[in-house]
Amino acid sequence: MATEGWRGWDEYARFYDWENARTMGRKDVRFWQDFARREGEPLLELGCGTGRILIPVARTGARVVGVDRSEPMLAYAGDRARRLPRVRRPELVRADIRALPFPDRSFSAVMAPYGILQSLTREQDLAATLAEAARVLKRGGTLGIDLVPDLPAWDEYRDRTRLRGRIGRSGSRVTLVESVRQDRRRKLTIFDQEYVETGGGRTRRHRFSLTFRTLPLPQVAARVENAGFRVTAVLGDYRGRAWDLRADVWLLMAARR
Ligand SMILES: C[S@@+](CC[C@H](N)C(=O)[O-])C[C@H]1O[C@@H](n2cnc3c(N)ncnc32)[C@H](O)[C@@H]1O
Repeated sequence: MATEGWRGWDEYARFYDWENARTMGRKDVRFWQDFARREGEPLLELGCGTGRILIPVARTGARVVGVDRSEPMLAYAGDRARRLPRVRRPELVRADIRALPFPDRSFSAVMAPYGILQSLTREQDLAATLAEAARVLKRGGTLGIDLVPDLPAWDEYRDRTRLRGRIGRSGSRVTLVESVRQDRRRKLTIFDQEYVETGGGRTRRHRFSLTFRTLPLPQVAARVENAGFRVTAVLGDYRGRAWDLRADVWLLMAARR
């Protein structure tokens, strides 16, 4: 049986912002801020995690709700939210995106950034989530999806040291050692991660795995259409260039029918 894609994120939470500051960074932040300005409110972010997108979107003044299943990820988002003026604070909701705890037609737009839909490791999970996005969107509302491109094309490797640095106020040393496995039959890419943290005379090893299921973008578009949407744009970068097979960004916009 395929591993549930929500697993691993609780353990990852402590390292998520540290790693992403060195990898994804803020490349997509402006895109989602512009999306929020254009699409109206309230907005919903699926899998808001530590608030990397949610907080900058809230700063634009948009009313936004972030939903995530991981309590530790949400705790980081909560810390960031408390630093905003009260009127700008996003609402944080702990829930599974396959069963959203919101009434029908309650959002103007739904954002699914940074591969969240790839955390749905089975066909029925993707179908349930798209159906939920369709249900909570107002008619004509927009679903925005960003996928991590072409994970199945990643080379498999074992125990590669990917990053080193210091983390937290104590400045402990951290090394990320990563392995990548491909399960081609199930379209799954599995990242086995080990964060080795040394500080205060102790070494701690944090091991967890993250699993992602990647469909080719045209297949995602077909599933989105089947769930009650009309695909309005397929983009290959964050400035609006059209998508092609070599694009290193996979963005899809769709309108609720
Ligand atoms: C790649 S992170 C994205 C976080 C944030 N959107 C960003 O761009 O930095 C994916 C997040 O999705 C959450 N997640 C994964 N599967 C989920 C599910 N079935 N329901 C709710 N949240 C889920 C994880 O806990 C994690 O915080």
